[in-house]
Amino acid sequence: MRLGLLEADKLRPASFIVQQMECWILSVCRVCNDEDMTDYDQLLAASRLESDAYLGNIEFWKRAWKAVKEPCAQLPDLPYLSSIPARLAGCGAKNVLDLGCGGGWLSIYLARHNFSVTGVDVAEKALEFARQWSDREGLSVNFDLGDVTHLPYLPGSFDAVLANSMFDHLTKELAYTLVVRLKEILCPGGTLFACFDKVGGGPGEYCTLPDGTHGYADNTRRGMLLRYYSDTELMDLFSCWTIIECSTLESGSRILWARS
Ligand SMILES: C[S@@+](CC[C@H](N)C(=O)[O-])C[C@H]1O[C@@H](n2cnc3c(N)ncnc32)[C@H](O)[C@@H]1O
Repeated sequence: MRLGLLEADKLRPASFIVQQMECWILSVCRVCNDEDMTDYDQLLAASRLESDAYLGNIEFWKRAWKAVKEPCAQLPDLPYLSSIPARLAGCGAKNVLDLGCGGGWLSIYLARHNFSVTGVDVAEKALEFARQWSDREGLSVNFDLGDVTHLPYLPGSFDAVLANSMFDHLTKELAYTLVVRLKEILCPGGTLFACFDKVGGGPGEYCTLPDGTHGYADNTRRGMLLRYYSDTELMDLFSCWTIIECSTLESGSRILWARS
């Protein structure tokens, strides 16, 4: 267990940082320091940490969206955005799933381009904003409240799935589980688009989980999981997919197109 401290926090005593941590971090820090533990105990502790961290992340997003007073109803200025509809259409996609759709901008953008869109997010408030936006535009988008790690859709439900800044907020194990599940809910040869943000480097206090994912502990991002994937890790994560493109943008974000 490592505590990752960024520049602004290096001057603070470690005890201060530790005090800021939630119980889920503290309990495992204690467990991991126990020299009497067997490997099995340590594995159990790690999996408990993963599941507590996972729940902490969900709570973070619900809280974060609840705090939003004025929803943003504008498309972000992303260099790859305008190419998405044409690429999806080029793959013959019609039914698309927007994972972790947030306030709905990508779902709405694709609905404007006549795709049949389902957006799924764990935060009810985000979906409320997304529905209001799509209603204002007279679009028909299906926004579902749900967890991407327990997707309820039938096999072959979608031609394409999109995950913009979504995988970054899962532990490695959950990400691996998700990519397998996505292959099931996609039709054969279905398409995946994902954007992995350039994460890390900002101010904040975090704990590094055994799999390398950061669990934030500062007031603003308490509970949020953030994981950086190296290029090699990305290739490994999608090794059972056919990768069409994996490129790095000027911003450092990476985009990936793959086929199931
Ligand atoms: C960084 S935001 C990205 C939102 C949107 N895709 C975008 O690009 O602006 C991550 C989104 O994923 C949602 N989210 C996080 N964990 C989730 C989970 N396990 N299941 C469903 N949604 C989740 C959050 O509520 C949030 O809206």
